[in-house]
Amino acid sequence: MQKFIIEGGKRLSGELKLQGSKNSSLPIMAAAMLAQGESVLKNCPKLTDVYSASRILNVLGCKCSVSDTVVINSEGISGTEIPESLMREMRSSIMFMGAMLGRLGECTVSIPGGCELGPRPIDMHINALKKLGAEVSDEGGRINCRLRGGRAKGTRITLPFPSVGATENIILCAVTAEGETIINNAAREPEICDLCGFLRSCGAEIHGDGCGSIIIQGREKLHGCEYTVMPDRIAGATYLSMTAAAGGEIILKNTCTAEMEPFLSVLEQTGCGIYAAPDTIYLRSGRRLKAVRDRIRTMPHPGFPTDAQAVLMAALVTADGTSVFEENIFDCRYRHTAALVKMGADIEILGKVAVVRGVKTLHGAEAEATDLRGGAAMAAAALSAEGVSVISNISHIDRGYEKFEEAVRTLGGNIQRV
Ligand code: EPZ
Repeated sequence: MQKFIIEGGKRLSGELKLQGSKNSSLPIMAAAMLAQGESVLKNCPKLTDVYSASRILNVLGCKCSVSDTVVINSEGISGTEIPESLMREMRSSIMFMGAMLGRLGECTVSIPGGCELGPRPIDMHINALKKLGAEVSDEGGRINCRLRGGRAKGTRITLPFPSVGATENIILCAVTAEGETIINNAAREPEICDLCGFLRSCGAEIHGDGCGSIIIQGREKLHGCEYTVMPDRIAGATYLSMTAAAGGEIILKNTCTAEMEPFLSVLEQTGCGIYAAPDTIYLRSGRRLKAVRDRIRTMPHPGFPTDAQAVLMAALVTADGTSVFEENIFDCRYRHTAALVKMGADIEILGKVAVVRGVKTLHGAEAEATDLRGGAAMAAAALSAEGVSVISNISHIDRGYEKFEEAVRTLGGNIQRV
């Protein structure tokens, strides 16, 4: 099992080009299966989750290669079943359910893996696919879905909560359905718009993405295209929080600044100097950060993103004053706090609230990454701490950050993978 050894206490400084978005790339890779012929995806990050998606496509008979671009040719698609071992590698494996139904009319999957953030059911996905005409049966954990008549029928679906994954699965199934589908209370995350952007380039007719209601006119066939995946707003939030925590300055290039606004508007309250252009963000962190006065409530987009909660907390543990987080998306997304406390942070968890009383300094410690963003938060805290930290279980970090240690080193951070 690999580890990161991090020697902290040094200011960071440098320029980074932000990676492409993981949470866009994965549903877009699933969507490529709906397009006849070849799709070429630019700006896909090289991550373990992207390789897992590629393995799923290949198992299903598509040809997928990952190098500078991701090239997917769906001509040979034949399989309708994803082995349990591949389903377990990541949460996004569930995106293939909607895509397989949309292309083949049937599929067999199982409960997906991914970060353990509390219960992550797929009831909204299943209920929505049933409304689109799928017959679903569960045989010992294997979920079989088959569309009546082989093709989905457009319908109106109102989600009880704007789930990102359920919205994506509905879109993937509905773009080739017969007739019109309307998704009410749809997720508005930028990655949903990116998925729709890709599908539109393939010939799909989708309106309203980014708003609460998405309207889809089903098309019989889609075609391949060339598409550039959006930048990763959460990796961006991570490198900005890291520099804010350690002190120093960063020029972040290739950003999606408008989509990062819900995060940036909170980070700004810490007193960092932030200058933002549409595709570049400059941050300077000089003095000790200020605590954030208003409660930081994670909410569906355009609220504060749950994925940035842990990394921002890593910066606020040494801020002057008390910051309060409220995690409203996942039941169990404070698992990183034990490691931060081990480094000297003062954090009290009260149900879905975390009270962070800023301390003057952190010290190095041994910690185990608990999940993707929690692991990145530990690394950010370790870079601001005095002394050496050892972070194990870093396969979590590798699932979401392309060449993490190279990026940290570009900023002058002292990090080694052993
Ligand atoms: C996506 O997860 C992201 N993952 C997550 O990023 C992100 O934290 C989350 O959206 C919220 O923004 C990917 O895009 C691959 P949800 P997803 O469905 O789709 C409940 C990261 O660090 N729910 O919006 O799984 C669910 O339990 C990851 O990159 C149901 O109850 O999120 C959760 O409490 C982690 N039933 C809430 O809704 C369902 O059928 C939000 O989940 C579906 C979801």
